[in-house]
Amino acid sequence: MKKVVLAMMMMLSLAGTGVSAQETPQILGASHAMLREPVSKRYLLLPVQEREENASIKVIAGGQTVQELNVRLAVDKVDYYVPLDVQRFGAKDLLLDITFHGDRRFTGAMKDFLCWREMKQSDTFDTANRERYRPQYHHTPLYGWMNDPNGMFYKDGVYHLYYQYNPYGSMWENMTWGHSTSRDLIHWEAQPIAIEPDALGAIFSGSCVVDKRNGQVVAMYTSAGKSQVQSIAFSKDNGQTFEKFSGNPVLTSSEEDFRDPKVFWNPEIQKWNLILAVGQEMRIYTSADMKSWNYESSFGKELGCHDGVWECPDLMKLQVRGTDKQKWLLICNINPGGPFGGSATQYFVGDFDGHKFTCEHQDTRWMDYGKDHYATVTFDNAPDGRRIALAWMSNWQYANQVPTKQFRSANSLPRDLDLFEYEGQTYCGVTPSREVDALRGKVVKKLPKTCEIVVDVKTTTEITLTNSLGEQVVMRYDVQQNTFSMDRTRTYASFSEAFPSVTTAPVYGSIRQLRIFIDNCSIEAFDAEGRLSMTNLIFPAEPYNNVKVTGGKATIYEISE
Ligand code: FRU
Repeated sequence: MKKVVLAMMMMLSLAGTGVSAQETPQILGASHAMLREPVSKRYLLLPVQEREENASIKVIAGGQTVQELNVRLAVDKVDYYVPLDVQRFGAKDLLLDITFHGDRRFTGAMKDFLCWREMKQSDTFDTANRERYRPQYHHTPLYGWMNDPNGMFYKDGVYHLYYQYNPYGSMWENMTWGHSTSRDLIHWEAQPIAIEPDALGAIFSGSCVVDKRNGQVVAMYTSAGKSQVQSIAFSKDNGQTFEKFSGNPVLTSSEEDFRDPKVFWNPEIQKWNLILAVGQEMRIYTSADMKSWNYESSFGKELGCHDGVWECPDLMKLQVRGTDKQKWLLICNINPGGPFGGSATQYFVGDFDGHKFTCEHQDTRWMDYGKDHYATVTFDNAPDGRRIALAWMSNWQYANQVPTKQFRSANSLPRDLDLFEYEGQTYCGVTPSREVDALRGKVVKKLPKTCEIVVDVKTTTEITLTNSLGEQVVMRYDVQQNTFSMDRTRTYASFSEAFPSVTTAPVYGSIRQLRIFIDNCSIEAFDAEGRLSMTNLIFPAEPYNNVKVTGGKATIYEISE
């Protein structure tokens, strides 16, 4: 009798919320629930509350687990929804097996969690932008979290950018390869997800190569399960879809940090080379088929910065500007340990014979002297021998906390890399890719929200951006000190103590012209000669609408779309 009354009460209370009795969760324990979901539409929209812990969801169709994901299901407030494609499994109904984690399960009765009332099916998912900080001319995912650029390659006129992606929330989780394409490195088109987690684990960072001899694109990535191991996948449709190799993993180790494979064809040894980040060193391998790998050498002991884990390597031969010399550049992203705290990109210049990299300098070098330039890697097979790099414009110190919700994080502008000599040393040159020039629109007097400011430098120069709230960013080229700096200590930063910062770069030679790119949440500063780059995020409470320049003459260009 008691049971019947209870069931009736539940049905009544659900009547007002639009949830059918069928979808009532079965609460099975302190942290465990099941929900049967008849599939009637394409998506099940899952309500997310970011400050809650992740709930682990097993999607079961016909007794088989077809997907596993972690979602911060809403307990008492919905920040946003994420779409779970429920139709693709071809099942009439699905069983969601949900385990909640964290303390909340003790404080609130699970049956009252808001997620049960707010889950809904829909044939569409609205990706129209709702964010004022979403960049206008930098790549971002339509929704969800993004970190490192992955697997970038160029083929048949199209640049492919994959990226570390969480399709089920705007914080790091469920690592998947998202995918976008572009013909001009500026305008990006979102593509379906390229590689999804599997029984070997989440899909961490890696690279793609255009395997011309076999008419395919091959992706190599880290499968991050119980251990980090390397896997490969093949694409016969120009990177649109990938089929995982049945013999995965292709490279294993007992090392804990063993990841981020960057593969490239080395014509000098007629083999594939692989550079892999392992703890605080880089390992180099060779292979004839990318399936079996030979260890060749390790690089990095007693060189460079070791205040963090080495990640996301790259290795390439580059021309030394204005000479007929070529040298090798080894890119080594490190986190933490960056010059201003947290994540940054260091590099080494030297020689590489296909087996061993030898560094020619003792000092530590940084590719970009801002605080938001990480996981930098280059495109495979770029046209005209170009080496085009993209970075993730964030820092692990606060990446999960920056004030956006619908999406989190953007990529840097594309940059061409080369080498230049200064006082007997060879450094990495960084120049905004020429495709960026097409963004220059009309010259304007008043500072727009997004723009390029070109400053012809005469002497020590100060560029101050302000808004009516008194927030400001000050950039300064100091001729005496021979430095360029950016001060963002007087702008909105309450989401992280690590955010306010003054970043300072050495200047090699003297600066004649500065190029400063402002987008809705970023500033990238370069000198016109490609010897300086500085990338910093900004979240002004209202856009900077005023610029004051001393020591130089500024021209402000609107961004033309
Ligand atoms: C760098 C990194 C990589 C790893 C990936 C995971 O930001 O930690 O080393 O593969 O992110 O998302």
